Amino acid sequence: MRTHYCGTVRKEHIGKTVTFCGWVDRRRDHGGVIFVDLRDRTGVVQIVGDPERTPEAYKQADALRNEYVVRVTGTVYERPEESLNPKLPTGEVEVYAETIELLNSVRKQLPFQVSTAEAENVREELRLKYRYLDLRRDRMANNIKLRHETIKAMRRFLEDEEGFLEVETPILTKSTPEGARDYLVPSRVNPGDWFALPQSPQLFKQLLMVSGCDRYYQIARCFRDEDLRADRQPEFTQLDMEMSFMSYDEVIDLNEKLVAHIYKAVKGIDLPRPFPRMTYQDALDRYGSDRPDTRYGLELVDLSDLMKDSGFKVFSGAVKSGGIVKALPIPNASKLISNVRIKPGGDLFKEAAEAGAKGLAYIRVKEGGEIDTIGAIKDNLSDEQRQELLTRTDAEAGHLLLFGAGDADTVNKTLDRLRQVIARELNMVDDSKINLLWITDFPMFEWNADEKRLEALHHPFTAPNPEDLNDLKTARALAYDLVLNGNEIGGGSLRIYQREIQEKVFEAIGLSQEEANEKFGFLMEAFEYGTPPHAGIAYGLDRLVMLLAGEESIRDVIAFPKTQQARCLLTDAPSPVDKKQLKELYVSSTFKPKEKKES
Ligand code: AMO
Repeated sequence: MRTHYCGTVRKEHIGKTVTFCGWVDRRRDHGGVIFVDLRDRTGVVQIVGDPERTPEAYKQADALRNEYVVRVTGTVYERPEESLNPKLPTGEVEVYAETIELLNSVRKQLPFQVSTAEAENVREELRLKYRYLDLRRDRMANNIKLRHETIKAMRRFLEDEEGFLEVETPILTKSTPEGARDYLVPSRVNPGDWFALPQSPQLFKQLLMVSGCDRYYQIARCFRDEDLRADRQPEFTQLDMEMSFMSYDEVIDLNEKLVAHIYKAVKGIDLPRPFPRMTYQDALDRYGSDRPDTRYGLELVDLSDLMKDSGFKVFSGAVKSGGIVKALPIPNASKLISNVRIKPGGDLFKEAAEAGAKGLAYIRVKEGGEIDTIGAIKDNLSDEQRQELLTRTDAEAGHLLLFGAGDADTVNKTLDRLRQVIARELNMVDDSKINLLWITDFPMFEWNADEKRLEALHHPFTAPNPEDLNDLKTARALAYDLVLNGNEIGGGSLRIYQREIQEKVFEAIGLSQEEANEKFGFLMEAFEYGTPPHAGIAYGLDRLVMLLAGEESIRDVIAFPKTQQARCLLTDAPSPVDKKQLKELYVSSTFKPKEKKES
């Protein structure tokens, strides 16, 4: 049907007869001559309908409207000097149409204009409902292409350079513990039994290592029923990998090469290697987060020991009851950040409160090291304490110090959040930087206060550091996360491959032997048939592509994403099903509808 794609014609095609198929991006009437920007996946080309030179095609062009689908045959000409368009790759040529065949028209009013700049301001709900139109837009079409290029680069590296095999793992499976709720599927032929959709292929990829597969990868769909945010979807994609007989450093080195390969292939950027590494503890101490954005400073300073004996009860009390006091020192901020914003009702106070803080203490540093604040802190610090405070925080005149006091988790969350907001506001974030960082030495477990038990920080198949085996509960894990500009883009670990250690880990997280056997007996049994030492990692593909594309939401790099309410607005899923279907599945709902669902 066609000889060329729209975006591919150049000067060398001048004089040639060409045929394109595509959509009318825009139609302009310029004093008798009609210009049509014709668009397909590769870009846009200018078609000319001239009443004198090509009267038939002119008439046909005149009848066209935006988004009509047409087939155009014409001759390529050089554009006159005044209409050269250096912004378009095809901007040096235009095509005089000889015939324009209408393949399909638009019969309804478009819900939004596809090709104009205003499309950027269309409500996301509308874009998602008419996603096929949204995906015609440059920005979205480019994101989908970039996603494809990224996956292609992954495959090329893993298959061609490193000998990985792509293996598919089941979607109808048993629950895998990645910490979220499962999506469940009832089994008709096994009444009363349920499949879980995989939260990740974790157990199968480990079993593949037992099978001798040696190096596995998969572009794997994962399902997690959890609270959604801009960087989370209920259904998302991982680049999932597992490999046998590799040391910790070998795994990290291979993954650095992979990420460097992707950046080179997709963005043409050479990433310096090795990537820096930081321990989990160091990350929390310095940034209050295990995925710190290291593109800017604003490091936190622990002042617990100094404040333990201060007269300021909020601080000393926090430390005495097992908590910490930390400061976020912000240089040259005194003029930019007013007291109103820090006090109750202010935006920074609200940020702190949303992270769980009960209050937000602050100090402003004046000339000569004098400090200014709302009474209490200042009046309750001795001269030595004040001096020590200034020294430790490197504070000079103009500095603003924001404080967190309380349990370590809340203090870190609060100051991490403030640090990010303030860095953005003070233009300290260099968006051209690509800061990759390994976080290492995670603890094996963290305390789940609600359930009053330890839980695995990654998942319970992560190997403990052999140096810490005599006290498993406080052991460090042989785990690693890869952080890119403050986003966790991947995580993995060396795995347990011995039954005794696996049993001990299950015991530590409060899983009885029966429960462990019922849930993971098949894995532990496999460990007894000659399991190689193995390790793996999974990347959040959507997140990685989001960052490569410079987008702020993973929805913008997924062709058909779900909303924050986990709905597909295009197909209106999830939706009710026939009573008959439910009956066949032996399922009935206890839900009593109250309100109409989101439209
Ligand atoms: P983890 O749970 O850390 O590890 O997931 C790996 C990566 O997947 C991405 N991710 C998500 N992306 C979008 N939406 C979500 N809801 C979502 N949840 C996670 C993150 C994360 O770093 N089986 C282990 C990996 C392993 O140990 O090999 C796992 O799934 O970028």
